[in-house]
Amino acid sequence: MSVCEYKPGLEGIPAAQSSISYVDGQKGILEYRGIRIEELAAKSTFLETAYLLIWGELPSKEELAAFEEEVRLHRRIKYRIRDMMKCFPESGHPMDALQASAAALGLFYSLRDLHNPAYIRDSVVRLIATIPTMVAAFQLMRKGNDPVRPRDDLDYSANFLYMLDEKEPDPLAAKIFDICLILHVEHTMNASTFSARVTASTLTDPYAVVASAVGTLGGPLHGGANEEVIQMLEDIGSVANVRPYVEDLIQRKAKIMGFGHRVYKVKDPRATILQNLAEELFSKFGEDKYYEIAQEMERVVAEKLGHKGIYPNVDFYSGLVYRKMGIPTDLFTPIFAIARVAGWLAHWKEQLEENRIFRPTQVYNGQHEAPYIPIDQR
Ligand code: SDX
Repeated sequence: MSVCEYKPGLEGIPAAQSSISYVDGQKGILEYRGIRIEELAAKSTFLETAYLLIWGELPSKEELAAFEEEVRLHRRIKYRIRDMMKCFPESGHPMDALQASAAALGLFYSLRDLHNPAYIRDSVVRLIATIPTMVAAFQLMRKGNDPVRPRDDLDYSANFLYMLDEKEPDPLAAKIFDICLILHVEHTMNASTFSARVTASTLTDPYAVVASAVGTLGGPLHGGANEEVIQMLEDIGSVANVRPYVEDLIQRKAKIMGFGHRVYKVKDPRATILQNLAEELFSKFGEDKYYEIAQEMERVVAEKLGHKGIYPNVDFYSGLVYRKMGIPTDLFTPIFAIARVAGWLAHWKEQLEENRIFRPTQVYNGQHEAPYIPIDQR
C-alpha cells in the first residue's frame, strides 16, 4: 500500500462513496439525490425529503402517506425515557440531554437485526419520530412543566412547534420551520455524518450511531455555531460596532462564527435561502434588530476575508429565523439535529450496504525504545 500524505482534518480525502448528496463548493450548489436544494426547499416537505435521502427516490403519494402515518404513530416517548429526562439538570445543555436520550432509546430496542429491511425501517421511523418529542420534552421539563403529548392532527413541524410551548403555531412559521429542516437534513461528509458512519461501520445499533453524531454536531466549529452567532450579534450590539469587532477578531486570528466552510468558497446556498426566510418572517412578524447587524457583518467579512473564500455558512442566518419564532437560543443546535438525523440514517443505511470497518492509520511521531524510569527517579 502506498504511503499517503498526512492531511490534517482529512481535507480532500474521500471517506466513502456516496450517492446521497453532492456539493459544488465553488459554484455554491447543493443537491440531495441529484435534486437542487432550492427546488426541494420550494416544493418538498421535510418528511418527503427524508424519504428521498434514505430510500433514494421520491416517494409515490401512497408511500409518502404511509411513511407520514408511521412517523405520526411513533411520536410518543416511553414514560421511562421521560422519567430519566426529568432527572437531567435543568442547567444542562439540551444537546447533552438529546445525546443521552437518543442513546437511551437503544436500551429499549436492543435486538439488533441489521440485515432486515423491516428493522432498518422501524429504526428510521422511531428515531425521526421521537427525536423532536425528546427535544420538546426537555424544554418543558427544564421549566418545571410536564411534557405535552404530540398532536396527531398536526403535521411533523407544526407538532414540534406545538410541543415546545403548548401553542398551535402560526401556519407560516410552521411552513418556514419545515423548510429549515429540509435545508439542514444532509450535507455530504461533514463531521457528524463522518462520526455516524464510523460508528455504523462497527455494526452497532442505530441509536449509538445517532448518539455519537449528536455529540459531534454540538461543537462550535460544527452545528453549535448557530447558537454562537446569536451571542456574537448580541455582543456587537450595533451596526457601528461591526467593523471594529470583525477587525479585532481577524487581528487576533479568532474564528468568526457562522462564516467559512471546508467545502464552500462562496456563500452557502442554504444561507441565501435562510436569509430569504428570515426576511419573510420579519415582514409578517416585525423586524429583528440583529438582522441589520448581521447584514453589515456579511458585508465587512466579505470585504476583509472574501479573498480567502470566507462567506456566511448555514449557521449564520438560521438563528435569526428561530429567534423570530421565539425559540430559545440553546435549542438551535438540537433543531439542527432533528433535521440531520435523517441524513445520518441515510448514511447509516448506505454504510451497511457495503460495510468495511473504518480503521485509518496515523503518522507516529513519538519516541521508540524509551526507558522506563522508576517513579522515585522521575
Ligand atoms: C457546519 O462540513 C459541513 O458540511 C458542515 C455543515 C453541515 O451542514 O454539516 O455545513 C455545518 O458545521 C457549518 C460550519 C459552522 N462553523 C462555524 O461557523 C465556525 C466558524 N467557521 C470556521 O471555524 C471554519 O470555517 C470551519 C470549521 C467551518 C472550516 O474549517 P477549515 O476548513 O478547517 O478551515 P480553517 O480553519 O483551516 O481555515 C482556513 C483559513 C484560515 O486562514 P489561514 O490560516 O489559511 O490564513 O480560513 C480562515 C482561517 O483562519 N478562516 C476563517 C474562518 N474560517 C476559516 N477566518 C475567520 N473566521 C472564520 N470563520
